[in-house]
Amino acid sequence: MRHVGPLRGEVVVPGAKNSVLKLMAASLLTDGVFEITNVPVIVDVPIMADLLIAIGLDVRLDEPGIITIINTGNLTPVAPFELVERIRASINVLGPLLTRCGHVRLSMPGGDDFGTRPIDMHIAGLEAMGATFRVGDGYVEATAERLHGAEITFDFPSVGATENLLTAAVFAKGVTTIHNAAREPEIIDLCEFLISMGAQIDGAGTSTLVIVGVERDALHACEHETVPDRIQAATYIAACAVSGGELDLLNAKPAHMAMALSRFTDMGIEFAALPYGLRVTAPERLRAADIATLPYPGIATDYKPIIIAMLAVADGVAIVTENLYPGRFRYVEELVRLGADIRIDGHHAIVRGVPRLAGTHVVSHDIRAGAAMVVAGLAAEGMTTITGVHHIDRGYENLVGRLKSVGAEITRYDV
Ligand code: EPU
Repeated sequence: MRHVGPLRGEVVVPGAKNSVLKLMAASLLTDGVFEITNVPVIVDVPIMADLLIAIGLDVRLDEPGIITIINTGNLTPVAPFELVERIRASINVLGPLLTRCGHVRLSMPGGDDFGTRPIDMHIAGLEAMGATFRVGDGYVEATAERLHGAEITFDFPSVGATENLLTAAVFAKGVTTIHNAAREPEIIDLCEFLISMGAQIDGAGTSTLVIVGVERDALHACEHETVPDRIQAATYIAACAVSGGELDLLNAKPAHMAMALSRFTDMGIEFAALPYGLRVTAPERLRAADIATLPYPGIATDYKPIIIAMLAVADGVAIVTENLYPGRFRYVEELVRLGADIRIDGHHAIVRGVPRLAGTHVVSHDIRAGAAMVVAGLAAEGMTTITGVHHIDRGYENLVGRLKSVGAEITRYDV
């Protein structure tokens, strides 16, 4: 990749990975034909489809952007290692399968490159609703004849635990209240999906979710459009910010990324609302701004690698604090290889902006780290070569094609 000048034009922001995978899992709850639209063309979608097919759903991905899922109720509530280990969101089958089938056996989901990712909150919440768990041999097994409602207070607003309890509570007997629930736009999307299936949920987008359990026959299949991906949108903002120019991000939802946009504004980027998206205008040079990741509505940890890539070429010194995954800094070594001046101290990164990075060979270790390498490559003089780009395909729909269409000199080689 060699950067040649400002980016200009339009980019359509695809649907969100971290929503669509959860919607797909929630279709286990009831029989019928589901249609999910605005589905991103990313590798994790067919992986999730393979898992659901193994469980007994018929999942069709014939048309780009649309998934049809046919649930005939013939389910085997087992998620084997070879499918679960490929994708973190496989944990999202736990709630629907347990509440629907009364039993589930799931390979323990692994960690990511940025650290271990326990599921103790998922387990404790479902136990409070009457489930019995057995953990051993790398598997977690849960049983519950019928879950019952419960008052659950999370120590931390876990996205995955909120989603599993929410879906499990749909058929639980009585009322489930989740306090300190996650509030991400993707959680709201899941609530809307469940509500259009006939679930009774109050409080979507707030930290208290109240779910009144319904009988099984009260639910039906539905059609749903996936919420746009705020992390992909931010990646195009970052690409424009380090390259100069102006981009129109069609389908971007500024309300879903308010805190990040506010910080980007502090960094000198200008935004203007469009009828169907957001116009981004890059500054002459970015300014440094301190950033701390927090659960929504705070700045998502998933933005952080691209933000650090931006700060690497900003004017001034910034402190970036990671509050979700302490180990999520591995890509910093790669940015340093490109000439960035970054020091890690515990869960802080001190980024001293340099005027320009210098292209070299770097490695992408996970989805967001890969996107950060692309942003850094755009900010670098000369050619940057990135390997491990298959990680990027897990969460970005045609990142290379989209950037190329707005003027970046970037080419993908499949070797
Ligand atoms: N945690 C626990 N115990 C639990 C659950 C979570 O200790 O039972 C801890 C985790 O270890 C982590 C923190 O709580 O330190 C946050 O975990 P959370 O459950 O909120 O995250 P998640 O559901 O596993 C989703 C996204 C991540 C994103 C996080 C935080 C999906 C598939 N993944 O993970 O996205 O970083 O929320 O916003 O939705 C990505 O897309 O690249 C990605 C990693």
